[in-house]
Amino acid sequence: MIPIAAPLLADAEADAARAVVLSGWVSQGPQVAAFEHEFAALVGAPHACAVANCTTALQLALTALGVGRGDEVITVSHSFIATANVIRHQGATPVFVDIEPETYNLDCARLADAITERTRAIIAVHQMGMPCDMLALMAVARRHGIAVIEDAACAAGSQIRMNGQWEAIGKPHGDIACFSFHPRKVITTGEGGMLTTADAELDRKFRLLRQHGMSVPDIVRHGSQSVIFEEYVIIGYNFRMTDMQAAIGRKQLERLPQLIARRRALAARYAELLGNIEGLRLPFEPDWARSNWQSYCVRLPDRLDQRTTMQSLLDQGIATRRGIMCSHREPPYAGTDPSHDLRQSELAQDHAILLPLYAQMDLADQERIADAVKGELAR
Ligand SMILES: Cc1ncc(COP(=O)(O)O)c(C=O)c1O
Repeated sequence: MIPIAAPLLADAEADAARAVVLSGWVSQGPQVAAFEHEFAALVGAPHACAVANCTTALQLALTALGVGRGDEVITVSHSFIATANVIRHQGATPVFVDIEPETYNLDCARLADAITERTRAIIAVHQMGMPCDMLALMAVARRHGIAVIEDAACAAGSQIRMNGQWEAIGKPHGDIACFSFHPRKVITTGEGGMLTTADAELDRKFRLLRQHGMSVPDIVRHGSQSVIFEEYVIIGYNFRMTDMQAAIGRKQLERLPQLIARRRALAARYAELLGNIEGLRLPFEPDWARSNWQSYCVRLPDRLDQRTTMQSLLDQGIATRRGIMCSHREPPYAGTDPSHDLRQSELAQDHAILLPLYAQMDLADQERIADAVKGELAR
């Protein structure tokens, strides 16, 4: 069976986790601090704050920005459901904007129409690692004074050209960027997340919020020669990452450049292998974007049934996934009658499939996948 994805974890990660276990300090501590420092340097962000996963990162981002009851947050329905759920958990209302069919990202031409006097924030998703058009999006957001959170769950290692310069996703290009280190992502810590920002005050809030609003973190008290009594200055959460996860993450960061190079080579090879198939639409990378190819998404012709095609590929030993889900079609969002047309989002969910892509993928396996896809298209 060729899996849809496979994390690249080896002795380096296992040894790093082992060393932490034997060190005696396993919760948030020096490894988390080092991971944050190295992640910030990698993406060019002034601040990075590690948390339990990207869902909690998004939740802290909205909380730190003061998004709450009665507010509206613009985002895409075409995303993993966490993007919409975090908005609802704040008591705010998600306002869904359709995607562009080429990049599967928010259609910035539709953004201005979705803004009301209640709009407090935009969550821009870099879907499947493909950068969202931040130049266009930020122009609208800044004109209206709306805060921007980047849902960069899938986008560690992706780049965007801003004003002639290639910059890492996470610099950030909005106010806050949120990353995931789930095993389905390009680098993993099992579970894990990271917030980056250029705003020191936001970073200070993230650090308080992730650890119960505690004025002095436990690691500082532990290392102190004098007695410290901490205070709980705001109502916070326990959204901490462990030092074992962070130690694994540091090793994954070392691998990131090679992982991206390999994934980009595999994506280019898919484009060659699948390029001339009538009716199959390949993913589009704008000339201002460099995707990490967290997922490789192809759009089937309308005449092919998605589930039948996926089942047939599975029967041939090839795992695929359907196109990215649409939150507005799930029961908790039923009745959120979208005032905006989400046709492209629905078409992408119903007619796209994700093909296997992972760094250690065999070239012969990739050819087998391409041949199998060709076979389906020839039916
Ligand atoms: C776009 C997007 N946002 C948020 C998340 C949530 O990330 P996590 O699983 O780290 O909470 C995911 C995970 O798949 C995602 O794809």
